[in-house]
Amino acid sequence: MLTPEAGSETASPTGLAAAPSKKVFVKTYGCQMNVYDSERMGDALTRDGYQPVDSVEAADLVLINTCHIREKAAEKVYSQLGRLAKLKRQRQAEGSDLMVAVAGCVAQAEGQEIIRRAPVVDVVIGPQTYHRLPEALARARGGAHVVETEFPTEDKFDGLPAAPETAIRARGVAAFLTVQEGCDKFCTFCVVPYTRGAEVSRPVDRILGEAERLASAGVREITLLGQNVNAWHGLGQDGREWGLGELVRRLARIDGIDRIRYTTSHPRDMDDALIEAHRDLPQLMPYLHLPVQSGSDRILKAMNRRHTAAEYVRLVEKIRAARPDIALSGDFIVGFPGETDQDFEDTMRLVEQVRYAAAFTFKYSIRPGTPGAEMEDQVDEAAKTERLARLQDLIARQTRAFGSDCVGKVVDLLLEKPGRNSGQLIGRSPWLQPVIVDAKLGEIGDIVRVRITQPGTSGLFAEPVA
Ligand code: 5AD
Ligand code: SF4
Repeated sequence: MLTPEAGSETASPTGLAAAPSKKVFVKTYGCQMNVYDSERMGDALTRDGYQPVDSVEAADLVLINTCHIREKAAEKVYSQLGRLAKLKRQRQAEGSDLMVAVAGCVAQAEGQEIIRRAPVVDVVIGPQTYHRLPEALARARGGAHVVETEFPTEDKFDGLPAAPETAIRARGVAAFLTVQEGCDKFCTFCVVPYTRGAEVSRPVDRILGEAERLASAGVREITLLGQNVNAWHGLGQDGREWGLGELVRRLARIDGIDRIRYTTSHPRDMDDALIEAHRDLPQLMPYLHLPVQSGSDRILKAMNRRHTAAEYVRLVEKIRAARPDIALSGDFIVGFPGETDQDFEDTMRLVEQVRYAAAFTFKYSIRPGTPGAEMEDQVDEAAKTERLARLQDLIARQTRAFGSDCVGKVVDLLLEKPGRNSGQLIGRSPWLQPVIVDAKLGEIGDIVRVRITQPGTSGLFAEPVA
């Protein structure tokens, strides 16, 4: 599953229109895939005559792309819709209007219920039907409430137009590219198999086409996205079945694509071809997000993860043998139903053994409709809080140690955006750390060689080397 970004809310102006008449405000919650989907929907709306704006007040259409991972996600959406209903009434009293569309995983999970509880909403659209958004809005303008939440057979990306080059440029030198969507794993805590549907891989030619367009618009780093990205598979150009390792190998041959990343991976789909790609390809960045969720075999089984802690540790050793400097990150859930102190100590031990560069940690919380919600022996809140604090403390120490170990290293940075102080830019190290370095604005998009000088609170500092 993709991990929600820290403080994961993004207001995303979407692109440029020639003769704009209508204005759309897009609000994105959740993971990188939602950011990507919002950009694609924004591109489609731009072609439909919409101009992106950065506030609800300035908009004729508000599109909320929701995330179901957050606790009480649906309730938070409903209270937001309550505020929009008030605004709509004001507008109508003034003789104008406001349209509201709800997309994303809450839309998928709640469906018709959204219209029932929040009649302010004109369109409810699930993640598999975004290509139908312009048409759904047209129907809604005729007065209908439109709910699009099936899992259609056509590829949603086929119907969504490619991003205009201007929009790609505006988004910067590092871009997301969805290659896979959905999940068949059914971890017992997780809603993704229900909201994003079964695993689907995009075909090779579509992915290569999009990557080439990104490269020709100046993108130098692509992050391949999928809830289960390393389950990606498809018919290769050589007529053989490819996995993600082969796909990455082919993408690395595209002129201009200097850096490749991918997220999120499942341990069971980490095959030899992908590990060999890490060994062989300088373009494939030495960073791997490989959630394990728990270090206890009993809990892993109850979570339906279908591997043991020892198997995970062996896999990590194999990956490190192929690419010794790889940075690992993970996701952890504490307080899954039935988790005892002993199970939690197993998690702490696994973290000590693996040594993470970063990790996301969560208290287990019930997602209605998942098997975990029905399990007895739910763990009490106080135990969850205490376990989370201990785990976070351990991981914070590992992250700091990873940063300190980088001091003195000479690395290549992709300069992405201006820093807080003028005369400084922020780039990403190969290990995904933000790095601040003295550089000129015109250098954005350059890959420069720097020496890491000191760790900071939310990244590293570096100096240019000749
Ligand atoms: N409770 C707590 N954390 C969860 N995650 C997914 N579902 C739940 C849940 N019900 C976490 C997992 C996943 C990450 C994206 O969110 O760790 O990998
Ligand atoms: Fe959810 Fe498990 Fe699938 Fe990840 S692998 S998306 S955690 S069901």
